[in-house]
Amino acid sequence: MQNTELKKLLESLSLEEKICQLLQVCGYYYEMEGVVTGPQNTAGFNEKEIANAGSVLGIAGAKRLKEIQKKYMAAQQHHIPLLFMADVINGYKTIFPIPLAQGCSFNPDMVKKAAGISAKESAAAGLHLTFSPMVDVVRDPRWGRVMESTGEDTYVNCVFAKAMVEGYQGTNGLNKKGKIAACVKHFAGYGAPMAGRDYNTVELSERTLRENYLPPYRAAIESGCSTAMTSFNTLDRIPSTANKKLMRDILRSEMGFDGVLISDWAAIEELINHGVAKAQIDAAKLAIEAGVDIDMMTTCYCRNLKKLIEDKIIDKALLDEAVFRVLQLKNSLGLFENPFKDADEEDEMAFVLCDEHRKFARKLASETMVLLKNEEILPLPKKGKKIAFIGPHTSHRWILGAWSIFGEEKDAVSLEQAIKEMEIENASFAAGCPILTSTENLEMAESSRTAIAEDNKNAKALLDEALLKAKEADIVVLSLGEHPSQSGEASSRVDLQLDAQQIELFNQIYNVNQNIAVVLFNGRPLILGEIFDKAKAVLEAWLPGTEGGNAVADILFGNENPSGKLTMSFPRHIGQIPIYYNEFKTGRPYHGDGGKYFSKYIDCPNSPLLPFGYGLSYTSFEISEVSLSRNSMTCQESIFASVRVKNTGKIAGKEVIQCYISDKVGSVARPVRELKAFQKIKLQPGEEKEVVFEITEKMLRFYTIDMEYKSEPGEFDVWIGNSSLTQNGQTFNLV
Ligand code: GLC
Repeated sequence: MQNTELKKLLESLSLEEKICQLLQVCGYYYEMEGVVTGPQNTAGFNEKEIANAGSVLGIAGAKRLKEIQKKYMAAQQHHIPLLFMADVINGYKTIFPIPLAQGCSFNPDMVKKAAGISAKESAAAGLHLTFSPMVDVVRDPRWGRVMESTGEDTYVNCVFAKAMVEGYQGTNGLNKKGKIAACVKHFAGYGAPMAGRDYNTVELSERTLRENYLPPYRAAIESGCSTAMTSFNTLDRIPSTANKKLMRDILRSEMGFDGVLISDWAAIEELINHGVAKAQIDAAKLAIEAGVDIDMMTTCYCRNLKKLIEDKIIDKALLDEAVFRVLQLKNSLGLFENPFKDADEEDEMAFVLCDEHRKFARKLASETMVLLKNEEILPLPKKGKKIAFIGPHTSHRWILGAWSIFGEEKDAVSLEQAIKEMEIENASFAAGCPILTSTENLEMAESSRTAIAEDNKNAKALLDEALLKAKEADIVVLSLGEHPSQSGEASSRVDLQLDAQQIELFNQIYNVNQNIAVVLFNGRPLILGEIFDKAKAVLEAWLPGTEGGNAVADILFGNENPSGKLTMSFPRHIGQIPIYYNEFKTGRPYHGDGGKYFSKYIDCPNSPLLPFGYGLSYTSFEISEVSLSRNSMTCQESIFASVRVKNTGKIAGKEVIQCYISDKVGSVARPVRELKAFQKIKLQPGEEKEVVFEITEKMLRFYTIDMEYKSEPGEFDVWIGNSSLTQNGQTFNLV
C-alpha cells in the first residue's frame, strides 16, 4: 500500500481503533496457549481489547496463525492485519547455539546464515517479527542474559548485530518470502545492571554509555533494523521506557531510527514500580511522550490514552505518529496485500529441522566451540582406546538454551547419541551425578525437574557406576555445566561454580583416572577453579543447540578443528567481576611484579583465568611481527598494518587474527586496548597468508573531554595477534 493510502487509512480510524493498534497481548490470550515470557500480567484484558489488539507475541504455527488472522480481520471494521511477533533468539525449531556461543565463532557470515534460516522457518510458521538481536554489551557473567548477548566487546557486538539483522530481514524488503522483521534490544544499557542482578539499576557515565554500550544498537539500526525494544532498567535514574532523551533525542534523532519502538513486557506499567509514575495514566503519558509506540502486555495505553487526548494532556499527534509507524511496519511486511505473508503448513513441514538446516546447525555449533586447554589428549582416537563418557550432560538433551522457546529437546542430539551414531569403539556412558542438587527457584519443564530429582535419589549409584567405568577407561570425557534454566532472563547467579556434586564427581574420577577431557555446557563464563588446573583438556561447548551432541563429537574426534575464541573473559574468582579486557590503566597500574601500592588484590591476580579473544586449535599458527605501511597518518589518511600467518601444524585450521589499538594519551583516560577489527582465516598445513588491516582515523575516535566524538593527534600502538593478550605490536602517530 502506498504511504498516501496508509495516511488515509490512519485518518479513517476511530480513536479507539488507533489506540488498540498500540496494544500487544501474548498468544496466551488467543488460544490459552503460547509462551509467557514475563510476569503473567494481571492486566485482565477484556474481550474487545484482545479482539482489537494490533499485535500478539509468543504464538506460532502456520495453521493456527492463519485462523487467528482470518478471524481477527473479519472482526474489525478496517480489516487491519494482526502482527505476529515472538522471541526467535537462536533459532525457531532448528535451534542454533546460544548467541554468546555464536559470537565466539567470530564468523559473522555463518551467524547471518543462521538468522536467515531462523527467519525462513519462523516465517513459514506465520511469524512476522523476532525480538532479536539482543545486542546488550555484558561485562558481568552473574547476569543470566549474558547467554543472549555476543559478549563484552562493543565492536564484536556491532559486527553480530549487523549480521543478525541482515540475516533476519535480508536487504531487499521485509515483504520478501522467508524474511521477518528484526527488533534490536534492549535499548539501552540493560546488560550493565548493578551486582549482575536482572532488572537492577544501571549507572553508566554518558561517556561509557555512548562509547561502549550504544554502538551495537546503532549498528543494528544502520543495518536497517525495523523495530527496537525498550529496556527494563533505569539510566541516570530514568527508566528507559520513560526516557525522552534516550528515545527521542538519541535513538530517533541521533541514530535516525524511525521504526516501531515497543516496550518490553509490562515495562510501561512498571514505571509505577520504578516510582516515576503514580498510576497507569501517568505511565502512559510518560511512555507515549518518550516515543514508545507499542505497549507490550499492559492496559496502560488502551485504557488511558483516550482520556489523555480528550483532556488535552497529550496531543493526538503523538498517538497518530505511533499508530502510523505500526501501520508502516505492517505495510512493509506486505500484510495489507497478504495478511498471511509466508504462513504455509507445507513449507513449515518442509523447512523446520530439515537436513540442510540440521547440517548447518552442526557446522555452526562446532565453529562456536572454544578449546580452552589441551595437553595432547584431544582429538580422541576413534578406536584403540577405551573412552568413558561421563557427566550429567552426556545423555540429557539440555543443550538448547533458555530462549529456545519453540525448540524441543526431543529433536536435539545428545553427546551419547552422537557417539553411538559415530560407532566409536569401546565407548561407555554414565551420568555420574545429577546436574543440580536442587531445582528450587528454577523454572523448567516438569520432565526435567523429575529427571533431576530422580538422579538425586540415585546419586550414590550414579557415582559408583561412573567410577567403575572411569577405572576401566583409558580416557574420560566429562561433560559438566549448567542446566539451561540457570541462565537467561531473571536467572542471575551469585555463585558461578559448577554444582557441588559435579565438582565432587570430577574429583572422585580424578582419583582413579587423570586422563580427563572436560566438556562444558553452560550459558555463561563459570568459575572453573581446580577443574581447569587438573583436567588435561577443557572444551567450551556452551549450549550448542539441536545438533550440539554431534558438534561436540566432531570436535572431540577431530572431524572439526576447534576455532572459537572467547568473547567474554572467564574470571578466576567471582570477586573480580566485572572483569573485561578493555579496562583502564589507573594511576597505579599493576604489572604483576610485586609492590604494595598498586591497583591489585592481595588474594588474587588481576588477570582473568581466560582472556577475551582466547581459544586454542589442534594445529599451531605462527604470526609474524606487525609491519606498517607508514608510521604516521593524518586524519585523511590510513595506515595498513599487516602480519604473515603460517599454519605450522599438521592439520588445517582456522585462526582469528585480532587487531587491537591503544591510544597512549588522550584528553580522558583511554582503555589499555580495544578490538577494532578481526579476520578469521583458514590455512592448510604449512600454508602462509598475509593478513592486512586498514587503520583509519574513524577507528581512533572517542568521546573527548568535551564530549566530542573525534580523534586526537598523538601516539598509538597497534597490536595484532590471536587473543587480547598479544604483545605483537607497532607504534604509529596520528598527526
Ligand atoms: C521479555 C524479555 C524480552 C522479550 C520479551 C517478549 O521480558 O525481556 O527480551 O523479547 O519479554 O518475550
